[in-house]
Amino acid sequence: MKPLIVANWKCNPITQKEAEQLFNSVAKESQKIKNVETVICPPFVFLLGLKLGLKPGFNRISRGAQDCFWEEKGAFTGEVSAQMLKDIGCKYVIAGHSERRKYFSETNETVNKKLKAVLDAGLNPIFCVGETKEERETGKIETVIKNQITEGLKDISSAKFDELVVAYEPVWAIGTGNPCSVEEAQKMRLFILKVISEIYSRNISGETRILYGGSANSLNSEGYIKEAGFSGLLVGGASLNAEEFVKIIKSAI
Ligand code: PGA
Repeated sequence: MKPLIVANWKCNPITQKEAEQLFNSVAKESQKIKNVETVICPPFVFLLGLKLGLKPGFNRISRGAQDCFWEEKGAFTGEVSAQMLKDIGCKYVIAGHSERRKYFSETNETVNKKLKAVLDAGLNPIFCVGETKEERETGKIETVIKNQITEGLKDISSAKFDELVVAYEPVWAIGTGNPCSVEEAQKMRLFILKVISEIYSRNISGETRILYGGSANSLNSEGYIKEAGFSGLLVGGASLNAEEFVKIIKSAI
């Protein structure tokens, strides 16, 4: 499978114009790069307006959402469903990002509902897991990650594993400029695979795509993919600069 490089723009930029400029700059460059799958996850409001990457000749870029609701439709003010995202052509949906867990009280249980909704809509979830600094310092990493995976994937069948992507994002590395070392990230990648093989099977864990996220940039990106064996990256801050993000995409070839 091609490496997967995902941009998580978070709550940026402010205007549609800036969003289009950023998207189009990445789309123009990424059309020249054959062997990498590039995904851009902008805020919901910009999803429909970002089109250049979808035109013939530019079609090497996919759109994703940063979150979704688990019900298909109904009286849920402010929510956007996975079915709606499918309808406008999204391919990926991030679920369980640590900022959603921290600021919007998401739990393993709600993340599980979202993962199921995304899979049921025929989209690819990017399921985020990761420990805080305190959990790392008090030796709880493995318990925390294991719980996030076990509860997040509860009642999800192994048949869905082609579509599901896991992202290891240590919370202390996100947006801090303090990335996880390649060695440590690799250790965690292997641990995640072990947990998945315990829940499902070795075959399934062998096929699961795992991304690294947390202060990834063009200088460290190659190490996570080529040395630590990740299937790609989930990039926040560095994805807001087209030139830097294109360098990251190129480093995955
Ligand atoms: P960062 O964010 O690259 O800015 O650390 C990554 C993420 O939150 O997905």
